[in-house]
Amino acid sequence: MFVSLFTLSLATSLYAQSGAALDIDVKDQDSIKSVAKTLAGSIVDLYKGDLKEDLIPGLFSSPYYWWEAGAVFGSLVDYSYLTGDSQYDDLLGEGFEHQIGEFDAFMPTNQTKSLGNDDQSTWGLAAMSAAETGFTTKKIGNLSWDVLANNVFESQVARWNEETCDGGLNWQIYQFNNGYTYRNAISTGNFFLLAARLAKFTGNTTYAEWAEKAFDWTEKIGLVSEGYIYDGTDETQNCSEINRIQWSSNNGIYTEAAAHMWNVTTDNKWKNALSGFANSTFRSFVQENILREVACELNGKCNVDQRAYKGIASRSFARAIASAPFLSDLLTPLLEASAKAAAEGCSTKDGTVKCPLKWTTKDDGEYGLGQSFSALAVVQALLVPNAKPLATKSSSNGTSNGSPAADTPAASGSGKPAENEGAADTLVVSRSLVVVIAVLAAALL
Ligand SMILES: *[C@@H]1O[C@H](CO)[C@@H](O)[C@H](O)[C@H]1NC(C)=O
Ligand SMILES: *[C@@H]1O[C@H](CO)[C@@H](O)[C@H](O)[C@H]1NC(C)=O
Ligand SMILES: *[C@@H]1O[C@H](CO)[C@@H](O)[C@H](O)[C@H]1NC(C)=O
Ligand SMILES: *[C@@H]1O[C@H](CO)[C@@H](O)[C@H](O)[C@H]1NC(C)=O
Ligand SMILES: *[C@@H]1O[C@H](CO)[C@@H](O)[C@H](O)[C@H]1NC(C)=O
Ligand SMILES: *[C@@H]1O[C@H](CO)[C@@H](O)[C@H](O)[C@H]1NC(C)=O
Ligand SMILES: *[C@@H]1O[C@H](CO)[C@@H](O)[C@H](O)[C@H]1NC(C)=O
Repeated sequence: MFVSLFTLSLATSLYAQSGAALDIDVKDQDSIKSVAKTLAGSIVDLYKGDLKEDLIPGLFSSPYYWWEAGAVFGSLVDYSYLTGDSQYDDLLGEGFEHQIGEFDAFMPTNQTKSLGNDDQSTWGLAAMSAAETGFTTKKIGNLSWDVLANNVFESQVARWNEETCDGGLNWQIYQFNNGYTYRNAISTGNFFLLAARLAKFTGNTTYAEWAEKAFDWTEKIGLVSEGYIYDGTDETQNCSEINRIQWSSNNGIYTEAAAHMWNVTTDNKWKNALSGFANSTFRSFVQENILREVACELNGKCNVDQRAYKGIASRSFARAIASAPFLSDLLTPLLEASAKAAAEGCSTKDGTVKCPLKWTTKDDGEYGLGQSFSALAVVQALLVPNAKPLATKSSSNGTSNGSPAADTPAASGSGKPAENEGAADTLVVSRSLVVVIAVLAAALL
């Protein structure tokens, strides 16, 4: 585990609200870009600080897990595309280069200890963003982004687990990791989204079939019910008990995936699913159009991972609107109000930008990567409607070239234990706090 004092001090210090807020006019693309530039710059500064501490490219230091770097890199790729500011492209390419791993599928063996299916797919989705936005770098040699994303997809198809629960993905890839038996909504949800994006990008129906199969399973087992998306279930009970905590990131991921499926199929099934997700999003997470992570913000117990969830949700909502434009009437006001609240909660002091966890009240003094990432994601989400069209495989010159998957280890438990070289220790996201918070969340919903 790497511990950088530099990052820790930024992440855990309590700062009084002071300095200039980031003023934003959510109807003005230049204003939005300018705020996005400030936020991206502050995240890259944090990253460069970690690199100076001899961290391997593509990681942030503890307490940030490997997955979160993937989420941040994905949004910095988006940033380059949405703003035209390509100054970080080489830096990003270098980070990807180091995290692609030995199997060309975002499974570096030195990350084994914190390698869940959801973590791997978070990086796979970042590669998907790179494919869709035409991101180029010499750093990944003759590999192509869609091939990398496909490698992640293929490795997870091979892990689809029908031994119990009639399907779904286990949270963890390796049986020796804590939480292996848990089937969480995000692992299958990220897979659903990756498959849906590959379907749209390539036009290959195999991906769409898997996306639908993944979604159908979540409904069958009750992880998705009447539009609500619940945290997970456990195979030791054949997935008969549902852990009903809700996260905004799940709503974003499932909404985006269903929107792409609507786009690809124009089947009303997806329109109905979207209507249910929109319902649950507004009922569970929104106050006066501003997102809040209700399960942990209200009691002050959001862990490091959970502080990034509203960013994951926001960027997915923006992509969902692009693929299913009828969502705009509902979700654009949500993104605008959330972006305004998030940006105005951020402050610059001595050249450093700090953003609050709570967008509704802006009054907490806890700052870190997840908060800055979420602010960037929601602010630049407002640039999506005016962005140039995304690439597809046929429109993107050359991205169909790339080396095929190198004998990806698919079977759970087949990997060898490796030393933990991750940026933070084993994930306990999904299940930590669950019991305590489930009670609170149930009371609220
Ligand atoms: C982990 O493995 C990756 C991919 O093989 C490599 O690029 C990276 O430098 C390694 N990280 C550490 C901390 O050794
Ligand atoms: C396990 O759960 C699946 C999905 O709900 C169900 O189809 C199957 O019958 C269950 N198996 C047992 C042994 O209860
Ligand atoms: C579609 O994608 C699947 C999964 O990667 C692949 O096996 C299949 O060959 C592809 N089909 C076509 C027609 O490209
Ligand atoms: C969404 O909520 C409205 C009431 O607010 C209800 O009429 C509608 O049936 C719900 N849609 C779905 C798909 O749950
Ligand atoms: C599908 O997505 C594209 C943008 O990628 C959009 O222009 C088009 O209107 C969408 N199609 C449908 C049926 O919503
Ligand atoms: C497409 O790729 C070829 C070969 O890599 C290159 O020569 C050509 O300039 C590219 N065309 C465009 C429009 O990028
Ligand atoms: C990609 O590059 C590697 C190493 O440089 C090489 O072994 C491989 O054959 C190349 N693959 C393709 C498809 O060009």
